[in-house]
Amino acid sequence: MSNYSINSLEQYFKVYRRSINKPKKFWGKIAENNFTWYQKWDKVVEFDMEKAEFTWFKNARLNITKNCIDRHLANKGDKHAIIFEPNNPEEPSRYYTYSELYTEVSRMANVLLGQGVQKGDRVCIYLPMIPELVFSVLACARIGAIHSVVFAGFSANALSTRINDSTCKLLITADGGFRGAKTIDLKRIADEALMRSPGIEKVLVVKRTHQDIPMTAGRDMWLQPLLDEADVTSKAAVMDAEDPLFILYTSGSTGKPKGMVHTTAGYMVFTAYTFKNIFNYQPDDIYWCTADIGWITGHSYTIYGPLLNGATTVLFEGIPSYPTHSRFWEVIQKHGVNQFYTAPTAIRSLAKEKIEFIQNFRLESLKVIGSVGEPINEEAWHWYNDHVGNKRCPLVDTWWQTETGGIVISAIPFVTPTKPTYASLPFPGIKPVLMDELRNEIVKNQQIGNLCIEYPWPGIARTIWGDHQRYIDTYFTKFPGKYFSGDGALRDEVGYYRITGRVDDVIIVSGHNLGTAPIEDAINEHQTVAESAVVGFPHDIKGNALYGFVVLKETGLWRDRNNLVKEINQLISDQIGAIARLDKVQFVSGLPKTRSGKIMRRILRNIASGELTDFGDITTLVNPEIVEEIKEGRL
Ligand code: WT7
Repeated sequence: MSNYSINSLEQYFKVYRRSINKPKKFWGKIAENNFTWYQKWDKVVEFDMEKAEFTWFKNARLNITKNCIDRHLANKGDKHAIIFEPNNPEEPSRYYTYSELYTEVSRMANVLLGQGVQKGDRVCIYLPMIPELVFSVLACARIGAIHSVVFAGFSANALSTRINDSTCKLLITADGGFRGAKTIDLKRIADEALMRSPGIEKVLVVKRTHQDIPMTAGRDMWLQPLLDEADVTSKAAVMDAEDPLFILYTSGSTGKPKGMVHTTAGYMVFTAYTFKNIFNYQPDDIYWCTADIGWITGHSYTIYGPLLNGATTVLFEGIPSYPTHSRFWEVIQKHGVNQFYTAPTAIRSLAKEKIEFIQNFRLESLKVIGSVGEPINEEAWHWYNDHVGNKRCPLVDTWWQTETGGIVISAIPFVTPTKPTYASLPFPGIKPVLMDELRNEIVKNQQIGNLCIEYPWPGIARTIWGDHQRYIDTYFTKFPGKYFSGDGALRDEVGYYRITGRVDDVIIVSGHNLGTAPIEDAINEHQTVAESAVVGFPHDIKGNALYGFVVLKETGLWRDRNNLVKEINQLISDQIGAIARLDKVQFVSGLPKTRSGKIMRRILRNIASGELTDFGDITTLVNPEIVEEIKEGRL
């Protein structure tokens, strides 16, 4: 694969310069040399940043599963594509070669076709981290159906909202899921969701926990018998470069989740090329990303990026603390993992445990370790670097988003010197800019600004499903001509970027992106609540935790405080999922508001974080006296 790997810092700078000066030539060459196409493109890229219109590899024809599976069969048919590591360590690991992956995906594709799924149809996948999840995703791509994976920790309401937003017609789920010592009743949750999602015509059910579940006649079917009868070969649908590959929902500043749409060719080229370089993947390596496939990290760097490179990817069903806090290290030792990619929140939770949990494991196989999901604080960085990487493995702090499709700022291992808490340098093709509030570009070092990207890259999301205007408004309006990430960042003297966190109303809790609006909507559903505001505050393990300021309709209801907090959290669990529960709830008689009625969140954030002295200018508040009251009552 010529022109594909970056092996020295000089080469990186050369490649980077070329990618910025001649992006069409640069991406065209990568696409040309490293993938299988039914038909090549007429033009590498056409775009309009104001209208948020992007066409990559115009009129090219391809199928991403041909690139993920079929083309590896000749030379790597017997190589493991997937190693499945179950939740319970007593259950044997399962290994799937590329040939077996071909068979499994073909059977699943044929089952979907048999159920009437057609090219362009939306299929919702609500499954735990089991092989059928990967097969389902790839089977959709095989036949040109658009997959919409919903994280199996989401509630019935969240599932139903997502199904309805993209009018999915078929749902793939399981009887239940194992998660540590717990079992999750997935089918029961799905049934509840489907009461509000009549568009779902068929439900395919994987047997995982073997628990008793009700099956609705005419709608629900066990998957296995259908697979057993299905043909083991399949034709890959011919897709246009810009045909949607999947929809993945992410929270935003209103209650409605945003269905980010990624299309076929650009996403393929970008995830493959970033995977190869950012993990320095070598032919016999075993690669493990711990992220759930319900998030973009799982899409791009558990499934697509690795398989596009013919890699062996570990699929882990469990959690870091079950049955003990050694589980990650046990798995690395067991499979001889070479690249390990996880989130700061997992690192922090393991770093606080006794060092014996990691000390007795052999981690010499590791070559590269990665971090993703939120800024990695200095302490966690060092613990990860010292105890997991043994000061020997480059630690790549990878900055990206659901919207970017793949990693956009990161060190390249063995090439870019790393620096704690800095994501470091932009990946080839990415032109970051920092903007101040007056829309001027920040040229000074060490000054925090709004992180934007100036030129499109192949992996950029194309739209929000069903609402292109919202896509334009959210990402392309505040800084005209640029993509605005919603994150703050600064740049050092060398040009390294440090991500400082969200600058909008999204809070990252344990690596999960949570919009404050949907949480507030859930709280306000409580009959005693008048209004509420949710902000983040620093938390040792989660990074941020949620602090809710709640105004009740009548103050007399204070007596049942504990009960009320419980009920509010239950509402949040029902509406969104347990990940969005509040750590602290403070009942207040009002919220600090500006004359235009906007809640001044900055003040609430300060109070929640214990910064009680400097509130800045509060003269624009209609009710400045409330600040004292809230301060006094801080939990
Ligand atoms: C937000 C995107 C990208 C996959 C997982 C999350 C934060 C992500 C980093 C990092 C600092 C990071 C940003 C970003 N984030 N990676 N290495 N350093 N912050 O995807 O759910 O779309 O969240 O996660 O705030 O905007 P997502």
